[in-house]
Amino acid sequence: MSAAPDPLRRRLLRIGLSATASAALPLAGCAAPAGDAPAPRRLRAAPARVSLLGDPWPDTDVWAYEGSVPGPLLRVRQSATLRVRVVNDLAAPTSVHWHGVRLPNAMDGVPHVTQPPIAPHGGTFDYAFACPDAGTFWYHPHAASHVQVAMGLHGALIVDEAAPPAVDRDVLWVLDDWRLRRDGSVSPDFGSAFDATHAGRIGNTVTLDGRLPGRFAVAAGERLRLRLLNVANARIFALRFEGHSPSLIATDGMPCEPHAPDGGLVVLGPGMRADVLLDCAGAPGATTRVVDEFVARDAYEVVTLAHGTGRRRAAPLRDPLVLPPNPVPVPDLARAVRHRIAFTGGMGGAMDARGMAAARGGRGAMRHAWAIDGRSATEHDHRHEPLLLLDRGATYVVEFVNDTAWWHPIHLHGHSFRLLSRNGAPLPRTLVADTTLLPPRSRGEVAFVADNPGDWMLHCHVLEHQASGMMATVRVA
Ligand code: C2O
Ligand code: CU
Repeated sequence: MSAAPDPLRRRLLRIGLSATASAALPLAGCAAPAGDAPAPRRLRAAPARVSLLGDPWPDTDVWAYEGSVPGPLLRVRQSATLRVRVVNDLAAPTSVHWHGVRLPNAMDGVPHVTQPPIAPHGGTFDYAFACPDAGTFWYHPHAASHVQVAMGLHGALIVDEAAPPAVDRDVLWVLDDWRLRRDGSVSPDFGSAFDATHAGRIGNTVTLDGRLPGRFAVAAGERLRLRLLNVANARIFALRFEGHSPSLIATDGMPCEPHAPDGGLVVLGPGMRADVLLDCAGAPGATTRVVDEFVARDAYEVVTLAHGTGRRRAAPLRDPLVLPPNPVPVPDLARAVRHRIAFTGGMGGAMDARGMAAARGGRGAMRHAWAIDGRSATEHDHRHEPLLLLDRGATYVVEFVNDTAWWHPIHLHGHSFRLLSRNGAPLPRTLVADTTLLPPRSRGEVAFVADNPGDWMLHCHVLEHQASGMMATVRVA
């Protein structure tokens, strides 16, 4: 299993980001050039064959960016411009959405809303945008996402702070969940009515950085900045680091006051990220488990932290690590305009009559199983008016009401919101995110300044829910 880039690669990357970049350095695979160097980084989406399971298992046919799953790690300095030329060598139209980046609407990668789809068999699209916030972000298609992301199209985008905080290692773990058949192939049952109306496409094989996880080597006393990213269609992870006291330092890339996660579990719905400060607490030679306890009765080990025989330092560090804040506008709660958005549908819920009426005539391939405020839209079916019309610059408090029996990670494009309350109870600390995971029959309030003009998607990031009606747009003008 490979973690974040090895030190040599990172050193080269740093050199590449400086003005002295030399064409002789193997930088093409590392990052987009910063500053004025306009050469875009290529991201070619095409079928590929990779080893997810390792020997002796067969390879898996996937769709991949540049032949690898996850796709290449893109890394830029905060406020630098990322330039990427996407080449579509798939047989299906695609696009690339830069999840969590507060970028101009035309770069958001939503087919039929912000750009035409990138044509199959050789179509291209050039993305170029500044990355205003440091943190852990990611990219993935926004066309038939429930198929394309599941087939392997996704990658991480790390935006580095101007002065990255000191840690021993900066590590990325891309968590994924695959539904594989016995021959190692991806099960082709995409968009089943069962998955759509229940928890989404839950798989049978969890991977870390595109491989079956085994042991992850650490040193006693080592301090890791662990960037966790959940790219699964539907699986929610609740990670317990046995024998450790992880500290949450950023949610969806946005710094927070360092704190122990609730119940010791780092919870990640699909699309979500967490930066965790992990001071390796095992003795030299010790192994400790990282366990996914989201479904307590089905808890399983994701990966083992294997402490080497040496020590990085005599005892784990204890001082907190506070990341510098990002320039996200602060909501003006006293003047906020309030909205309430209800999510309905799914097994055990009922699509109300209004929702079914609105759904009739939809051209999405999947059935309309869910609705947002009574309206059900699939795959960018934008005959609907925007769900909300927001005045640019104003603060909004939106209460999301999950009136279903299922979990939903609700994601807003183009903005990051502050999480205000859960079931009416204020949160104990300020958390900023682009996705909020709503438990069944719960409500959660978020607040944000609608400062980014354009039509932005608001949807559930369980991709089967998104594809079967849990999607809308909000317009900021
Ligand atoms: Cu990561 Cu609209 O999605
Ligand atoms: Cu959902």
